[in-house]
Amino acid sequence: MKFFIDTANLQQIREAQDLGVLDGVTTNPSLMAKEGISGTDRILKHYVDICEIVDGDVSAEVIATDYEGIIREGENLAALHQQIVVKVPMIRDGVKAIRHFSQRGIRTNCTLIFSPGQALLAAKAGATYVSPFIGRLDDVSTSGVNLIEDIRQIYDNYGFETQILAASIRHSMHIIDCAMAGADVATCPLSAILDLLKHPLTDIGLEKFLADYHKVNG
Ligand code: G3P
Repeated sequence: MKFFIDTANLQQIREAQDLGVLDGVTTNPSLMAKEGISGTDRILKHYVDICEIVDGDVSAEVIATDYEGIIREGENLAALHQQIVVKVPMIRDGVKAIRHFSQRGIRTNCTLIFSPGQALLAAKAGATYVSPFIGRLDDVSTSGVNLIEDIRQIYDNYGFETQILAASIRHSMHIIDCAMAGADVATCPLSAILDLLKHPLTDIGLEKFLADYHKVNG
């Protein structure tokens, strides 16, 4: 399972990269705005800065919602850096654009996936990744993890190579549930990744090991 970090914060991306378990980064317009990144030039430079920190794929989202606009913006984003994956919303023109990109070797991440049918359509169009938003489904009392299981089943039935990138992950249990459900990637806040470290018995066990060592070694 690959771990991506879901942020545009360079400090957090560096911290996750430093931990040695980072496989990529996802961003979206809300995450860019949260970091105060605005204006086309600054936004494009920020994507390049992210690519220079991590080794893996970096999702950069288009703003256009019409076919020609998505193509134009996506091609510009893809030309920025070889690690860029063009993030396209699950809308009619988005699906058409994903087909266009996949025929030209431009990798895509189809975002805002909330149903198995949307995931099937994105895979048919040739998306590299689909991003089911599991936390937002949980927010409306629908199981986000069940969606991951359904998509896994459909993709395995037909051998689709599109990778399931579980998004809108809010906590470490979401990561475990997605791993159990067979997600290929989890894109997470740094806090959720770091919370995987924690167990009180680890802390108690380490304290005892060190105390016993020091009893005989001073
Ligand atoms: O990857 C999608 C993610 O950024 C959305 O997360 O917490 O706003 O639902 P959230």
